[in-house]
Amino acid sequence: MTTADPGGRRPVVDLSEEEARRRLPLKWGVPEGVLPAWVAEMDYAVDPVVLDAVRGMLADGITGYPPDGWDAGLATSYAEWSARHFGWAPEPEAVHPVVDVTAGVRLVIDVLSDPGGVVFPTPGYNAQHGLARVTGREEHLLEVPATADRAEIDLDRLDRLLADGARTLLLTQPHNPWGRAFTRAELEGVRDVVVRHGARVVSDEIHAPLVLPGAEHVSYLSIDGTHDHAVAVVAASKAFNTAGLRCAQLVVPDAAARRRLAEQPMSRNDSWSPLGAVAARAAYEHGDGWLASLVERLDQQRALLVDLLAEHLPEVRMRPVEATYLAWLDASAYGHDDAAAVALERGRVKLSPGHAYAPGSTGHVRLNFATSPERLTQIVERLATAWV
Ligand SMILES: Cc1ncc(COP(=O)(O)O)c(C=O)c1O
Repeated sequence: MTTADPGGRRPVVDLSEEEARRRLPLKWGVPEGVLPAWVAEMDYAVDPVVLDAVRGMLADGITGYPPDGWDAGLATSYAEWSARHFGWAPEPEAVHPVVDVTAGVRLVIDVLSDPGGVVFPTPGYNAQHGLARVTGREEHLLEVPATADRAEIDLDRLDRLLADGARTLLLTQPHNPWGRAFTRAELEGVRDVVVRHGARVVSDEIHAPLVLPGAEHVSYLSIDGTHDHAVAVVAASKAFNTAGLRCAQLVVPDAAARRRLAEQPMSRNDSWSPLGAVAARAAYEHGDGWLASLVERLDQQRALLVDLLAEHLPEVRMRPVEATYLAWLDASAYGHDDAAAVALERGRVKLSPGHAYAPGSTGHVRLNFATSPERLTQIVERLATAWV
């Protein structure tokens, strides 16, 4: 057993621009004067409890290879964390570290999925657009109709794609960039279709800790009848801003699937970093007090974004954001061929371009609102100058 101490409330601390440039070199690697609201990292200092754990490990000089199963306590920590937050937990033996979520998803498709297409709800996380191809499979897009007020999985289309030979659904729950946390009823609908076709689900749940007030996270694996065909890929790294430390976790409830993964040759070299494992364990055991402050802040930022858009960019359409700190904005009413390019050129704001998430969506952008209220205000004001 672990000695989980979720700890008291700790505040979210905003990074100054100088700190952000140093600590988030990808996101803030933009020219002077440009405001970055693109890649999914937050302009907040890492929870001191997590940093202390990593510092402690380095102070002990632990820098060697992690043996298989090293820090077995991580699995128990995750299971206990999942029980506290989601009311459902896997058996600890189902939880295995892997280098990151992207690699975990790729590994599961490679090893466990039958040959055949991968169904990918679209718009979808840009790095995952290439996953089907690198696993030697065809990608089948499952689009959300642009007119829908709520982004929902089209079960009839999923049914047709699986009937036509696709073998895997790459679910993202909660979804980036739809901003949806799918409900139990929706996931049961997905399960029914998948089971009918004997297909697989890989459920990327990296954004699960970032479900905002008004919604809840339901793990696909908490749905009855999913353990024989599904794997979840989870991580503390997105919610705790530690993506560079390299550790995610696979949740594989099916023992036969675990054996197949364990038999993979060493040449795959998909080992994780002990730094990431220590950070994840500290987050799961002691991070609740910081995470509660984070969710409160993101809820405020979400409300501020709605107000700012209403005031400065009334023609922008944004579906309600239930989870994540990423808003999918339809700015096509302003008539620009590439809204993100115009935002950068004229507004000096770097956004993620819509076409990276859905082919042809050049009027859309993804905006990261995990920053200070002042910076978010500046971002929207600049977008208004650029687009209107
Ligand atoms: C849905 C989703 N999956 C995976 C990732 C990347 O995770 P990792 O860095 O662990 O590969 C992201 C990053 O933002 C994401 O949004």
